[in-house]
Amino acid sequence: MKLFLDTADVGEIKRYAHVLSGVTTNPTLIMKSGRDFKEVVNEICSIVDGPISAEVTAEDAVGMFREAKEISSWHKNIVIKIPMVEEGIKATCLCSDAGIKTNVTLVFSVPQALLAAVAGATFMSPFLGRLDDVGQDGVYLVKEIVKVYGNYGFPTEIIAASIRGPTHVIECAKAGAHIATIPPKLMAQLYNHPLTDIGIKQFMDDWERAKK
Ligand code: G3P
Repeated sequence: MKLFLDTADVGEIKRYAHVLSGVTTNPTLIMKSGRDFKEVVNEICSIVDGPISAEVTAEDAVGMFREAKEISSWHKNIVIKIPMVEEGIKATCLCSDAGIKTNVTLVFSVPQALLAAVAGATFMSPFLGRLDDVGQDGVYLVKEIVKVYGNYGFPTEIIAASIRGPTHVIECAKAGAHIATIPPKLMAQLYNHPLTDIGIKQFMDDWERAKK
């Protein structure tokens, strides 16, 4: 499974760049960065050599496609994030025909995932954490989508998104999601295990004794 970082914070992206295959952003993350959309997306593209998702904000397919053409012209690695609505699926078809890579986002059901694949989406992002928040099972959704995509050989890659903890990452990897896009705070947690810390301390203490 590939790891993407879900952020527009370039400091965090630089910190983890060596293990990243891509980055996802959304309007909320751009707002949190406090930076100009084009400027920050271009800087992210200069740090990570992989798919960088940048989202359109128009509400109709023609407007989304217009934005997609503009944003995708900034850098070859940009993937256009398109919301999972009827107009978004039309825009995804237009992008697909025009050779523009897409990431259909805000997916919460198998039929939505199927529509994204049929429209030719390059990536599709089910939001696990937000489903769990309303008492549904985000990991189960990923399992179901993996099964459906596998049945028909859809090339659309599944980006497990809205990831809230290490268990989400493990379960999505077991389910066969192609990618997990991980918030920086969680990325830090993935490195940690108390037995690693205890083991390092013991080795260091013993090394000090060995030098005496
Ligand atoms: O990539 C989608 C992600 O940014 C949404 O995460 O934590 O806002 O549900 P969250």
